Amino acid sequence: MCGIVAYVGDRDAQEVILKGLFRLEYRGYDSAGVALIDGGKISVRKKEGKLSGLAAMLAREPLKGHIGIGHTRWATHGEPDTPNSHPHTDCSGRIALVHNGIIENYLELRVALLEEGHRFSSQTDSEILAHLIEKYYAGDLLEAVRKAVSDAEGAYAIAVISERNPDEIVVARKSSPLVIGMGEGEYFVASDVPALLEYTNRVIYLNDNEIARLTRGGMSIYDLGMRRVEHTPSTIEWTLEQAEKGGYETFMLKEIYEQPDAFRNVLRGRILPGNNGVNLGMEKIAEETIRSMEKIFIVSCGTACYAGMGGRYLLEYHTDLSVEVDYSSEFRYRNPKLGRNTLVMTVTQSGETADTLASLRMAKEKGCPVVSIVNVVGSTIDRESDGVIHTYAGPEIGVASTKAYTAQLGALVLFTLYVGSVRGQMEEEEIRRVIAELCALPEKIERVLRVEAQVAAIARKYYRAKSAFYLGRGFNYPNALEGALKLKEISYLHAEGYPAGEMKHGPIALIDKEFLVVCLCTKGEKYDKMISSIREAEARGGRIVAIGTEGDRNLKDIAEDVIFVPETLEELSPIINVIPLQLFAYHIARLRGCDIDKPRNLAKSVTVE
Ligand code: AGP
Repeated sequence: MCGIVAYVGDRDAQEVILKGLFRLEYRGYDSAGVALIDGGKISVRKKEGKLSGLAAMLAREPLKGHIGIGHTRWATHGEPDTPNSHPHTDCSGRIALVHNGIIENYLELRVALLEEGHRFSSQTDSEILAHLIEKYYAGDLLEAVRKAVSDAEGAYAIAVISERNPDEIVVARKSSPLVIGMGEGEYFVASDVPALLEYTNRVIYLNDNEIARLTRGGMSIYDLGMRRVEHTPSTIEWTLEQAEKGGYETFMLKEIYEQPDAFRNVLRGRILPGNNGVNLGMEKIAEETIRSMEKIFIVSCGTACYAGMGGRYLLEYHTDLSVEVDYSSEFRYRNPKLGRNTLVMTVTQSGETADTLASLRMAKEKGCPVVSIVNVVGSTIDRESDGVIHTYAGPEIGVASTKAYTAQLGALVLFTLYVGSVRGQMEEEEIRRVIAELCALPEKIERVLRVEAQVAAIARKYYRAKSAFYLGRGFNYPNALEGALKLKEISYLHAEGYPAGEMKHGPIALIDKEFLVVCLCTKGEKYDKMISSIREAEARGGRIVAIGTEGDRNLKDIAEDVIFVPETLEELSPIINVIPLQLFAYHIARLRGCDIDKPRNLAKSVTVE
């Protein structure tokens, strides 16, 4: 997610904005910039790379002024380079804008603006807004911004300044956060509270489809129909560190709760009207390649590999493709048969994992096209892949992957629908059915997050356990592996994910009355067989914690604890079922006094072998 900071008042705007941007560094970014009204003119300073580089540039050539905007960019559309960094200006350079969000219809708007003679200096969706404001500008900046955002579809939080309106900042938001800090004769604007806490703790949060004008003399807020809107200021009681985590104890917990929005982002702009299919924008992978391929290798590490395994079940369930999944660290040293009609897919949050990058390069050396599911735009794997599906989950700070995993699964569902449609192996009605449920998942994820208190209570019963099995079948077998990994990596409690049908081939010998067995047993084709597996473990004294579908009365007879989740399609159930597993691992780690965001021995991105 990008970071926005803006200021109007009597202070040195450059200093306020830079300090605010440094407070937002934790959100992750790849470039930064500021624009001030300096001597009646808009001056822009921006560059790719770290904020320190921008600060050094400003130290050499400081900007003077008391009104300005600033930005740290988390690239979504366009490389993380200087031209694509914000602020963006209109053709005249007299209007400057910073944006956080995704403009879904930016391509069609760009074409129309080009035809009207506008000239673009970046590949971003954000720059469109600066030219739309220019198009509608007739002296009233707020009115021009109102018309511009009314043309845009998607998510935005913006701050805009204009030479011809030198005393005001106009801000607007839809689906991306924007907070306004209120001082005496001054206003602070930011994407998040840490950027303004040093100056004020009195804030108002702009709501969706609201727009505001800020001057030293005051603030006026309207809806997009230009009806005045009143907000009651709230007072932030957080410390700075608490504010960076949005009030959550850890980044991991914050990111667990960000999953509904992260999932909305992975779907955003990719669902065709009427749920009649998906648009993944993978221009460099021809549909002919998708039609002719006979086999896909899905290659990744850790959590991303378990997402990839989930992708195998999805692709084999909906298409006639043969899918093989392997750990990158193994794949790169095998001699996989990458034939002419083979596609390699990598799945990666960071886009920098050494083994996955090496696997990508090996595949390409063998002449095999590579599609990647990547969260970090502009990462090495992003740039070296032939086709990319970005997950848009935003920066994932906690070492243990949570929102990236569910976003990866969402991207794999979209890819499956795309492949099934292009290969003519999914009926339109089936595609619509899956998409309709996919779009209902963010709300269901919000619902399942309400089990946290119950999960915390269950964690108090088991946090001293010595070991645990996580059992699943079919779509939920990879999810069992992921649940076990979450527990291992943040609580250091030994856990093993296993296909439930395999227990009787040896592992069940481990189960006794102290052994924790977490079972994924939501409604689906494998339900009855999962019930049998649970009975086998329970008969040997295993302590069963079951994840079940709301309303299921069978589980309480065979499980010591049952966590109910909303019903969904079986092939989508891992996206819902993993949430209680994330929370369970979190609360056990918390009770064991572990450093949850930075577990021992682990790095967020394993860029070495
Ligand atoms: C997951 O919680 C771990 N942090 C780790 O397994 C991670 O998924 C793995 O290192 C792959 O990272 P990537 O997605 O950035 O490639």
